[in-house]
Amino acid sequence: MPVETVSQAELEQQRLYMQKVRSVFHIKQSPPLAYVHSYGCQQNVSDGERIKGMLSEMGYLFTDDTANADFILFNTCAVRENAVERVFGNVGALKHLKKKNPDLIIAVCGCMVQQEQTAKRLKTTFPFVDIIFGTHVLHKFPELLFTEIFEGGRIFEIPDSDGVIAEGIPVARDSTFKASVPIMYGCNNFCTYCVVPYVRGRERSRSPEDVISEVRSLVESGCKDILLLGQNVNSYGKGTDTDFPELLTRLDGLEGEFRIEFMTSHPKDCTHRLIDVIADSDKICRHLHLPVQCGSNRILRAMNRHYTRESYLELVDYARSKIPDLNLTTDIIVGFPGEQREDFEQTLDLMEQVCFDSAFTFIYSPRTGTKASEMPDPVSSEEKGKWFRELLEVQTRCGSKCYEKYVGKTVTVLCDGKGRTDDRYFTGKSRQNIIVDFDGSESDIGNFVDVKITKALGWALIGEKQDPK
Ligand code: 5AD
Ligand code: SF4
Repeated sequence: MPVETVSQAELEQQRLYMQKVRSVFHIKQSPPLAYVHSYGCQQNVSDGERIKGMLSEMGYLFTDDTANADFILFNTCAVRENAVERVFGNVGALKHLKKKNPDLIIAVCGCMVQQEQTAKRLKTTFPFVDIIFGTHVLHKFPELLFTEIFEGGRIFEIPDSDGVIAEGIPVARDSTFKASVPIMYGCNNFCTYCVVPYVRGRERSRSPEDVISEVRSLVESGCKDILLLGQNVNSYGKGTDTDFPELLTRLDGLEGEFRIEFMTSHPKDCTHRLIDVIADSDKICRHLHLPVQCGSNRILRAMNRHYTRESYLELVDYARSKIPDLNLTTDIIVGFPGEQREDFEQTLDLMEQVCFDSAFTFIYSPRTGTKASEMPDPVSSEEKGKWFRELLEVQTRCGSKCYEKYVGKTVTVLCDGKGRTDDRYFTGKSRQNIIVDFDGSESDIGNFVDVKITKALGWALIGEKQDPK
């Protein structure tokens, strides 16, 4: 199926809308202020940077305080119920602001909007929300905002689509030296618990030329950390002449001092060749986020994951043999429908065997429309909670063991700001993508610094800055 690319003519039209909005604000005394908040994954944050880019072109400045804003946008996540409920709570809290300032424009977009029942709830429960738009029309945001400013009323733009690719949308990045670059959108895997394929459309890859030229220009403008994004980066490149290992090799060959990270990898598509490319590279981070989700083959089958615990363990062994300083992280779901104590114990056992550096752990959350939401789910939430706490205990122990290994070693850190453990510290990430706090200074921000690790916490390393050689 050919990928639907948004035409240049359409994008040109959106640029005209941006100019029109800008010219109106131009004659006002002070520029309008926008508050933009993205929930959920990095892909959403990246979409949020595009929305900010468009707002910036339209003459907006940004505020962190909803009370000062002329425009408020929530870019939502639907992956788990608690994320959804948080958005409902936060949108509800805007009612009084709209009452105080009827000119305030409120918009909600993102994955939640793409689900029929949540879109309906948003429309009916919050009549003060002016614009609601889905994930497939991000590029049309200028037109929607223009229409709202000049015509008012409520705007709902939620087309059903397999998804599009829109190149050339302006981006306002949160950092000057770190950037995320989407390489593909959507997902075709239909893991039975996951809502993503329903709200983000079919898998589609940007052309390697577009990705490479974006990365090249980021690096030329001083960017030192490039995060390649996709729901399943390992299946990048369908419909192009370049697969993911090849794309990485080409990016690794670009001139400049920078790092390449990527997420997320699906174990079913993670090949030895990919691991070889990471091992042989200069610039690719020694970090593999490889969500295993569960250690029981029976449940992996029910999840539609297309790998087994044995094949996963083999992959981990291979990766660690090729990349000895690999930082291996994962996602785990506890309490999938039908999961029994024996299955959960298989997960605990796998966690002990692998000893992940860190793990994102979730209690299963039923999502409307997914296959798993229709499966019998007899285990009580109390029991699932108990399992979850057991899992955390194992992971805390394993994570500490992994981090302890760094004490006494020197790692190179890209410093990105003030420390989190102590006001006197600065912080950044090592080539393994591990948080490191150290005794740096303002001038280290945005630069690579060698740090000797003196202490390991469960989630970060502490160290002392080394003088440049
Ligand atoms: N319930 C709980 N966790 C989920 N994830 C995805 N869908 C669900 C769900 N319905 C987790 C998976 C995935 C991560 C991004 O979120 O572990 O890898
Ligand atoms: Fe969801 Fe599975 Fe696709 Fe990841 S690979 S987004 S878990 S369906």
